[in-house]
Amino acid sequence: MNVLVTGCKGQLGTEMRRLSAEHTKHRYTYVDIDELDLTDGEAVKRLVDDCRIDVIVNCAAFTNVDGAETQEEAARRVNADAVENLARTGRKIIHISTDYIFSGEGWLPYKEDDEPAPRTAYGRTKREGEERLLALCKDAIVFRTAWLYSPWGKNFVKTMLHYGAEKDEMRVVYDQIGSPTYAGDLAKAVYAALDADEWKSGVYHFTDEGVCSWYDFTVEILRQANTLLGSNRYKAHVTPIRSEEYTYLTPRPHYSVLDKQKVKQTFDIQIPHWTESLNECLRQMVSAE
Ligand SMILES: NC(=O)c1ccc[n+]([C@@H]2O[C@H](COP(=O)([O-])OP(=O)(O)OC[C@H]3O[C@@H](n4cnc5c(N)ncnc54)[C@H](OP(=O)(O)O)[C@@H]3O)[C@@H](O)[C@H]2O)c1
Repeated sequence: MNVLVTGCKGQLGTEMRRLSAEHTKHRYTYVDIDELDLTDGEAVKRLVDDCRIDVIVNCAAFTNVDGAETQEEAARRVNADAVENLARTGRKIIHISTDYIFSGEGWLPYKEDDEPAPRTAYGRTKREGEERLLALCKDAIVFRTAWLYSPWGKNFVKTMLHYGAEKDEMRVVYDQIGSPTYAGDLAKAVYAALDADEWKSGVYHFTDEGVCSWYDFTVEILRQANTLLGSNRYKAHVTPIRSEEYTYLTPRPHYSVLDKQKVKQTFDIQIPHWTESLNECLRQMVSAE
């Protein structure tokens, strides 16, 4: 099959490219906004036809959660209108969505058919993208994920390493619970779906194993980074605080844990614990320094 990967310069797209040498069953074309703006439906159709694409993996999105609150229309153009443009090509699609489509007020891991109730502009636009895709494309696979990080682009791990080295103290919330997800692990799950013997459409939840708070995550990031470097470069003391003590532009979910039974059973994959994957990511970052 000919596979088009969009958003190839983002966190997940970069991991898709990095792992491509290990996945040779299909032929891949990688694009980002400078080659193909997904909000241009004509251009999308032209490229998909010209390159005889069979499957689209959509890693592109408007991912700035705070920015979406003030630019909801701009977010909708990428997170919903562009997804509809992809769906209208009539090709098979693997699309990525988010825990933000849920309210974040639950206390049991969210299952795929739990009721969506987005509380933010980002979550609303991502849910709209899912809805339009699922209505138009019977061959859609949707992976919902959360707390994504990688050595590339902007993410929580990189921010914490930066402040951990600069500051004496960091105050981090301990009452928001989720599962950190290394983008490389999500890319492997996407490849498992692409390389499977049959196409298994549906909605799936994917994060790394285990749960923690942002506070626990931060302590572990700094601990592992210091151990890898054999130094105390990341010297900041991490103080746990409640969400009310931090000024957020956008409401943040208190509970983002996703139930992964379906993805594990369907694609027969094993998912690493988040602490192991954090270590793999930090090793890459340290060796690139
Ligand atoms: N990051 C998280 O914590 C998180 C959590 C849950 C789910 N997700 C979902 O996971 C997926 C991958 O996220 P990510 O963190 O890898 O995203 P990312 O790093 O922000 O990458 C997204 C890519 O899409 C590109 N893009 C934006 N608008 C576009 C357009 N109109 N046409 C074509 N490309 C466009 C971006 O280009 P520019 O950089 O130039 O805008 C960027 O290269 C997304 O669907 C996201 O919603 C992310």
